[in-house]
Amino acid sequence: MSIHCWQSVILTAALASVCCAQSLREAADRDGLLIGTAVRPSQLSETAYASTVAREFNMVEAEDAMKWWVLRPDRATYDFRQGDEVVRFAAAHQMKVRGHCLVWSHYNPDWLTHGQFNPRQLSRLLREHIARVMKHYRGQVFAWDVVNEALDENGNLRDSLWYNQPGIGLSSEGTAYIEQVFRWAHKADPQALLFYNEAEGEGMNRKSDAIYTMVKDFKRRGVPIDGVGLQLHIPMLDADMPPIFAGISSNIARLAALGVQVHITELDVSLPLDASGLPKADDLTRQAQAYRGIVRACLNGAGCTAIQTWGFTDKYSWIGSHSHGARGHALLFDRAYQPKPAYCAVWEELSAGRASDSKPRSTPSSTPILERPAAFESSPAAAPASIMSSGPFTARRPRLDGWTAGSAWCRPFQLDLLRLRSANASLSR
Ligand code: XIL
Repeated sequence: MSIHCWQSVILTAALASVCCAQSLREAADRDGLLIGTAVRPSQLSETAYASTVAREFNMVEAEDAMKWWVLRPDRATYDFRQGDEVVRFAAAHQMKVRGHCLVWSHYNPDWLTHGQFNPRQLSRLLREHIARVMKHYRGQVFAWDVVNEALDENGNLRDSLWYNQPGIGLSSEGTAYIEQVFRWAHKADPQALLFYNEAEGEGMNRKSDAIYTMVKDFKRRGVPIDGVGLQLHIPMLDADMPPIFAGISSNIARLAALGVQVHITELDVSLPLDASGLPKADDLTRQAQAYRGIVRACLNGAGCTAIQTWGFTDKYSWIGSHSHGARGHALLFDRAYQPKPAYCAVWEELSAGRASDSKPRSTPSSTPILERPAAFESSPAAAPASIMSSGPFTARRPRLDGWTAGSAWCRPFQLDLLRLRSANASLSR
């Protein structure tokens, strides 16, 4: 081989090693960020599904498998089979698991909603459920959505089985029922991070104000809450996007200042579909901009420690049935597992990484990202500690099996290739 050839081989290898992440997971690992997806255990036997999850994500969450209606077919039974599949898959691929969700007014089994239980019975049922489920997954699920969607668009508590219909006995006491379940959850698994998860309270609005007020009150009084989940199901792209991103950034910043971390938990950006079920090409570009802006808002806020999409392939998404087919194509991969422009936008932002002033700082008093403090501290903390060094998901990378999406499909690598070619050209001159 000529000397120029050798130089070119060495330069190529050197650039490949310092240059481009081959997957979202690899890019996120570099910044100690969690990048996750909701999964359906029934699809994990599909090779393309499973290999894409393992390659692209360092965190998973059961889309439905840990909800009451799956776990509790009847009052006496706990059916952990589907949830366990998710946990097994995650362990096999060195991924973290988020748990979702312990308390929600939706997707409860009929025996529970139509059981005519009184508040004392309901309180006991809920307490037992939280204890049993969290103990079952102790050490395997690192963070739980303890309460999901408790507020309406005005920031008032929604009527619900657990709050006031008939509730667990705290119906006239505002957020006391939420406080109660966080306390039960902390007792059941003192190491798990405990989240309040909400829809449409992502930017600055009445709902997010109410979340902020509740979290501030909880932190002041030592109620064990560690984070807020921002769902981020985005149904339309007609609005002016930059102010939306700015609102999300401000909200992340004010929550972080209270000493809680923020996870983006259910990101998807659904598109209107034509009669043949296809989106407009322009919308795919705007969708990529939406994903980019949200990922950037998280990366720019030290308190934002995880970004999770609600599924990853348009082949399996709740949007189709939820919108009766009017919307869809909401995720990063198409139905054939090919990356979409949105994938590249996310990959580019993750590859660019956090701004230097938004890197999570590690201080003795800060909230750990992957674990709870041994003793719960109620004082507002600084930005969360770094997870760069500790997470087991950083230890071993998934096999890439010839996959080149991160590098070959997305623009920055193409720019690097051009740079590489011009460097090679000047070497051989
Ligand atoms: C959805 C699931 O994706 C569907 O499979 C299921 O039929 C209904 O629930 N907010 C949440 C999620 O917190 O649990 C919901 O998931 C989507 C809205």
